[in-house]
Amino acid sequence: MSKIATLEIDGKKYEFPVIIGTENEVAIDIEKLRSETGYITMDPGYKNSGSCKSDITFLDGEEGILRYRGYSIEDLAGKANFLEVAYLLVFGELPTKDQLFQFEEDIRKHTLVNEEMKKIVEGFPRTAHPMGILASLTSALTAFNPKPVNVENEKEMYQAVCKTMGKFLVIATYTYRKSMGYPLNYYDNTKGYVENFMHLMFELPTGPYTPDPAVVDALNKLFILHGDHEQNCSTSTVRMVGSSHAGLFASISAGVSALWGPLHGGANQAVLEMLEEIQANGGDADKYMAKAKDRNDPFRLMGFGHRVYKNFDPRAKIIKKAADEVLATLGVDDPILQIAKKLEAAALVDDYFVSRKLYPNVDFYSGIIYRAMGIPTEMFTVLFAIGRLPGWIAQWKEMRINKEPIGRPRQIYTGYELRDFKPMDQR
Ligand code: ACO
Repeated sequence: MSKIATLEIDGKKYEFPVIIGTENEVAIDIEKLRSETGYITMDPGYKNSGSCKSDITFLDGEEGILRYRGYSIEDLAGKANFLEVAYLLVFGELPTKDQLFQFEEDIRKHTLVNEEMKKIVEGFPRTAHPMGILASLTSALTAFNPKPVNVENEKEMYQAVCKTMGKFLVIATYTYRKSMGYPLNYYDNTKGYVENFMHLMFELPTGPYTPDPAVVDALNKLFILHGDHEQNCSTSTVRMVGSSHAGLFASISAGVSALWGPLHGGANQAVLEMLEEIQANGGDADKYMAKAKDRNDPFRLMGFGHRVYKNFDPRAKIIKKAADEVLATLGVDDPILQIAKKLEAAALVDDYFVSRKLYPNVDFYSGIIYRAMGIPTEMFTVLFAIGRLPGWIAQWKEMRINKEPIGRPRQIYTGYELRDFKPMDQR
């Protein structure tokens, strides 16, 4: 039975349909609100506003549930590989063995990046933040691939997905090679996608490089965990930019910029810097807990809290376990992991954090694993972006296929009323 929500303004009643999702999430459909009442809604930060219907990811922040296309994140992180999950996110179903083989094969056809891109990389200072370079290079790919994709043509869309997956991984590693003064590397089509990340990053012309299989396994898991997270800041940005019918590379570039911020994906870098600072100051976790709780101190416990999760972030649970495993396998004894565990234990019983439902999020432990793998701190958010890429593509594709209108919020104007122009000599 369909539900109706009733709104009363100045004694007049208006009815709005209620939308119910597969998991019984409910929304009041206010599409006709302004045309019927003259009112708009006000919801800074979109804490209560749905922007779309989506079939891709289900997230229950109260229960700590995350599913891609109906599959639990626990199952996917434990049983699948990253490209399998990328395929699932973008095309809606887990691939068969043949489909997965073909997908990998088709991505390999697009792993060569135009050599002219190297000139753009040369122009950046070596000290530039990798996320800034990545956003610019992703946008620059538009110049080398100017033909817009026809989203309704399945074959064209498939090619665009493979092209984006292939080239993005390569340019993501350019940022590190540039910072180190190493020659830019080429994708090795004899190796797998995740293994190639390590190869692209660390293989030098002076000798062969074989990544530790435990590192590749952990990376595979981390990329899956970052695969999609419904309408978060960067994904909403990708959908918003794409809603003007800007191309896939331009939209993804905007997503990279949104992800960069420390309140979003940039938190993984900020967490490690915070843990290093605590360590450098004698490891006094209590002092930093007190700072985080002090309203007059802008310090926040990075890696804690989430707009949607008001329970444990299921990804953080998996990552915490992976951190223990990876560090043990690699024989790394990192005192920073102990500080992180101390902070977490303290926060989980502290009234400030408990009452605000602030739990560790995906970024709290991921940096510790990246650090054990030898990945520099400034690259952490780039790894997040590589993992999130299939989610961004899937959401962009869905938005275009569903023919969503251009994203254009309204506002309540609070500035001056009409006033007379003041000539220069009277100001
Ligand atoms: N440390 C200390 N206090 C916090 C923290 C934190 N990490 N996070 C939230 N709070 C407090 C706020 O000060 C606020 O307190 P108040 O009610 O007394 O004013 C309350 O908890 C609610 O916080 P908001 O900022 O209103 O919550 P919002 O949903 O807007 O923000 C966010 C969520 C941005 C993730 C926030 O928790 C935060 O800044 N966390 C640290 C950064 C971080 O780890 N970001 C990564 C998120 S995961 C991701 O994007 C991949």
